[in-house]
Amino acid sequence: MCGIVACLLNDKAAPVLLECVRRLEYRGYDSVGIATLSGDIYVKKDEGKIDDVQKRLDLTNIPGNMGIAHVRWATHGLPTGNNAHPHTDCKKRIAVVHNGIIENYKELKDTLQDEGHIFTSDTDTEVIAHLIEKYMEMGNGLEAATRLATKDIKGSYAIAAISADEPNRIIGVRKESPLIVGVGENESFIASDVPAILKHTKKVIYLNDNEMVILNPTGVLIKDMDGNLLDKKVNIIEWTSDMAEKGGYKHFMLKEIHEQPEVIKNTLMEFSEIEKVVAKFLEFKRICFVACGTSYHASLVGKYLFETLLGIPTDVVLASEFKFSEGALDAETLVILISQSGETADTLKALKIANKKSETLVIVNVLGSTATREADHVIYTRAGPEIGVAATKTYISQLISIYMLAIAMNGDNKLLEMLQIVPSYVKDALGMEDEIIQIAKKYKDSSDFFFIGRGFSYPTALEGALKLKEITYIHGEGYAAGELKHGPLALIDDDIPVLAVVPPGDSHDKTLSNIEEVKARGARIIALGSSEDEALRSEANHIIGLKGEITEMLSPIPYVVPLQLLSYYISIERGIDPDKPKNLAKCVTVE
Ligand code: G6P
Repeated sequence: MCGIVACLLNDKAAPVLLECVRRLEYRGYDSVGIATLSGDIYVKKDEGKIDDVQKRLDLTNIPGNMGIAHVRWATHGLPTGNNAHPHTDCKKRIAVVHNGIIENYKELKDTLQDEGHIFTSDTDTEVIAHLIEKYMEMGNGLEAATRLATKDIKGSYAIAAISADEPNRIIGVRKESPLIVGVGENESFIASDVPAILKHTKKVIYLNDNEMVILNPTGVLIKDMDGNLLDKKVNIIEWTSDMAEKGGYKHFMLKEIHEQPEVIKNTLMEFSEIEKVVAKFLEFKRICFVACGTSYHASLVGKYLFETLLGIPTDVVLASEFKFSEGALDAETLVILISQSGETADTLKALKIANKKSETLVIVNVLGSTATREADHVIYTRAGPEIGVAATKTYISQLISIYMLAIAMNGDNKLLEMLQIVPSYVKDALGMEDEIIQIAKKYKDSSDFFFIGRGFSYPTALEGALKLKEITYIHGEGYAAGELKHGPLALIDDDIPVLAVVPPGDSHDKTLSNIEEVKARGARIIALGSSEDEALRSEANHIIGLKGEITEMLSPIPYVVPLQLLSYYISIERGIDPDKPKNLAKCVTVE
């Protein structure tokens, strides 16, 4: 998983490449590199975060008005300077950047080495540079040689390639890894994702699998893998580049948490679009949600909602496990895949499987992403670009989309009215920052946390625990409150804080009993509930009390907000950068 950028400009390319690739740092951040072309190919690259490498090497100090850049999240070969992209051929006349995995790279590398090619890295990517070299030596141009190289490759790739023998030309090609083309005034771009190039152009072409782009000084050409010209739509992107900046907040994650009331309002505007497609969904006998990570937790809320509001049997399956459920697919099942990025490899694989026998709907934040092009139906969440690795505002927008879908299917306008006032609850939850900071300071050194909740609060507990793990590196375990007694109670002692999610409603009293159980074992209780809940207050060591009487059914929306803030502030207390947690990437394009 990596981010790639390429540009052909009238001006010096390296500073622009650096600026663009910075916006892709969420895709990976263990190494970075740039190659430019000005007669020869110039490469600067090393292991480390972009700022550190920039300080060491001054990546922008290379000539040329065209080039390619890469930010890496290692899959093949350790994060080292040698393994950082761009990779070059034997004569350093060709440079490539790549996102994806070349599955047959070992055999390709053996063959190329037997033919005399010298490799300098442990990456799968380097074979691409040598394959292009081999085909160019046979008399092909860069375009044809890249096309031939991709015919040898098995796996997934988004590639950008340049050759010193063909100045003023950049080739890009994609299969199962995202790649977009930016069309500017006398300049053009290739990138893994739209925010990378938004400052330069809002005109974007989405490449499909097995399509190739050729950037040259007169514009861009898109071709299929047989070299036929394709007529592709140019999309105008509404996002501004400011939307992908920090806007005065210390971290993207904090900014994104605070954007949530606005995000809910924007996402609610999609209701009429959803209403247009739901009639057909009522015919399905079963719903199956499929997703990973935070999107999986949104799906769990979806299950409770669909079963409560609509009485439709609803399953939730992790995308990476979905192939084991393939046998239960049929034409009477609607498979709903939820993905912020629309590019998660596990989810895309599940989508392919689901498409064989069932109708598919994707709930996605990224316009034009692969999932949106492969599913039968699409609902867009309107969260705007999310840069922090830990999902926050996209989770809220997924929840809103799921509620709108269930409400549109159920036809109860009263529920829709209730949903319209949810942003005010979320605003109130954001107002609890000071209390949450105090709790973060008190518990920042804990080694384990439990998060418990029942019913609609169970996914909230899971999401709270996931946020904690992701950005504080503290072990957090989310559990159904009623299930604690079946094992985990053995772990509870006075070192372990238990965060109980207890909105007013049917589950309230039973969760209070579960709080009693853990208190009796010495646990310290942080209760998340209504500010007016005196019974809860008397049980808890700390209370995060939300104003207003939201129903249990809608509580997952505002109740997740204090948990996002708690993890954020614990992360700050522990000196961790919450936007870039170690070992994680925002968009996981490998299975
Ligand atoms: C990665 C991210 C998570 C995200 C998951 C699913 O693991 O770090 O934050 O929830 O992928 O991503 P998706 O884009 O499919 O929602």
